[in-house]
Amino acid sequence: MHKKIINILAIESSCDDTGAAVLQNNKVLSNKIANQSVHAAYGGVVPELASRAHQQNIVPVVQQALKDAGIDKKDLHAIAFTKGPGLLGSLLVGSSFAKSMALALKIPLIAVNHMQAHVLAHFINEENQKRPGFPFLCLTISGGHTQILKINHYNDFETLGETIDDAVGEAFDKTAKLLGLPYPGGPLIDKYAKHGNKNAFEFTEPKTSNPLDFSFSGLKTAILYFLRKEKKKNENFILENINDICASVQHTIVNILMNKLKLASEKTGITDVAIAGGVSANSEIRKTLKAFETSLKWTTYIPKFEYTTDNAAMIGIVGYYKYLSNDFDEESALATSRLKINE
Ligand code: KG4
Ligand code: ZN
Repeated sequence: MHKKIINILAIESSCDDTGAAVLQNNKVLSNKIANQSVHAAYGGVVPELASRAHQQNIVPVVQQALKDAGIDKKDLHAIAFTKGPGLLGSLLVGSSFAKSMALALKIPLIAVNHMQAHVLAHFINEENQKRPGFPFLCLTISGGHTQILKINHYNDFETLGETIDDAVGEAFDKTAKLLGLPYPGGPLIDKYAKHGNKNAFEFTEPKTSNPLDFSFSGLKTAILYFLRKEKKKNENFILENINDICASVQHTIVNILMNKLKLASEKTGITDVAIAGGVSANSEIRKTLKAFETSLKWTTYIPKFEYTTDNAAMIGIVGYYKYLSNDFDEESALATSRLKINE
C-alpha cells in the first residue's frame, strides 16, 4: 500500500524569531529561522520591533524554506501557523501571512498551539532519534512556560504542575541580566557554568503548596540580595566569580526541575520522560536527565538542538497530525496571546 504524501508549510512567529519549515509527512525537508538581533541592546524582546522584523523576514524565510525543501508552492497540501501563545503583534504577522497564502493556493489552514508544538517536536521522524509512546511525562520549559505535563495522546495533555510566577527561562534570563550579561542570557549562563563550581554558592529552593508547581521569583530576589551583599564587600565580585555564580545558579534551577520531575514520575508511575522548549537546550538539564536512564531506569527523550528553541518544524509536525484527523481551521481563526496547553 502506498502511503499518501502530505507536504505542509509551517510558520512560527510567536516571539522574536521568524521560522518557516516544510515537512513531508513526519519528516522535515527544511527548517529555516531568521533571528532578530534588534532586541539585544534593550535587554529583552521589544514587541513593536519584533512585529516589524517579522514583516521584513517572513517572505524571504518562507521562500528559502520552500527552495531548500525542493517543493513548489503548488505541491503543498496545507499551511500550519502558530496561533498562540505569544506576542500578539508577532502572531498576527505569521497568521495573516498563512491565511493569505492558504487562500491563494486554495489549501487548508491549520492553527497550532505553540506549547503543544514544543512537546510534539518529539514525533519528528529523525534518524537515530526514538519517539515516545503514550502516556509519557514532559517537562516543558521555555521563556514563557514551565510545566510538567502528562501526554496521553497527540491532542490530550494533562497539566500536573506549572509555575505560579516566573517561567524557568525568565529565571535564567533575569539572573543573566543581574550579572550584566546580554539577552537572552540562558545560553550564556550555561556556557560560563561549564567552567565553574556548582557548589560554590548555595540558594534555597522555593516551596510551593502543590509540590509539582514551580516558583522562581523568590530565587531571583535571593540572587539579587546575594549579589548586592557580595558587591559591597568586593566591587569586582561578579567579574571574579562569574563561572562559579553561573554554575551555582544553574545547579539550583536544575535541582528544582529534576526533583519535581522525579516526584511526578513517582506519583504517576510513568518512567517515559521527555523535555521540551528552549530551556531544554541547557547542557546540565540534558546530562542530568540522561543519567536517570541508569539511576532510575527511565527512558528519556531529549530533542535535537534545532527542535528545542522556537522553530517552525515543530509547528509542522502538529500540522501533520491535525491534517491526518481533518482538523482544519477557518480563515477567521484568531491569533491569541494567551492559550492553555489543551486549547
Ligand atoms: O522556547 P523558546 O525558544 O522561546 C519561548 O517559547 O519562550 O525559549 C527561550 C528561552 C530563553 O529564556 C532562553 O534563555 C532559554 O530558553 N535558553 C536556555 C538555553 N538555551 C535557551 N536556558 C538555559 N540554558 C540554555 N542552554
Ligand atoms: Zn517556545
